[in-house]
Amino acid sequence: MNRVAITFAVACALALPWSVHARGNVDNGKSKSQACAACHGPEGNKPVGPDFPIIAGQHADYLSKALRDYKSGARANPIMKGFAASLSKQDIEDLAAYFAGQASPLQTHR
Ligand code: HEC
Repeated sequence: MNRVAITFAVACALALPWSVHARGNVDNGKSKSQACAACHGPEGNKPVGPDFPIIAGQHADYLSKALRDYKSGARANPIMKGFAASLSKQDIEDLAAYFAGQASPLQTHR
């Protein structure tokens, strides 16, 4: 291996964990969450009614999968499809990171 190939290999090895574990940005998620508050509550923990799920404190992976599935149609819900449709991949990660970190009635052991 020449020096360029080694440098490239090392750079890839270092970059890989970041790309695989791309995580959302909580602060960006917070500002993007304004639209969600109307139904899920300001921090996702006080939904407006029994048909609206608590999303605060849910696992980030679960939240991002739910949003991707609404967007793709794999999970069918006319209300959430509309909201998920306009979200980018990064929006989804940011929102998932934000809501996962909020205090929640789902976590009684905290
Ligand atoms: C107009 C009301 C409304 C708004 C606004 C809204 N949602 Fe929802 N959301 C719902 C309803 C109703 C469901 C339950 C749908 C179902 O049964 O799949 C839901 C479900 C979800 C779920 C799945 C929860 C679970 O336990 O599986 C996630 C995640 C979610 N919403 C995130 C968001 C995010 C993020 C936003 C803002 C971008 C948002 N929602 C805005 C009404 C809303």
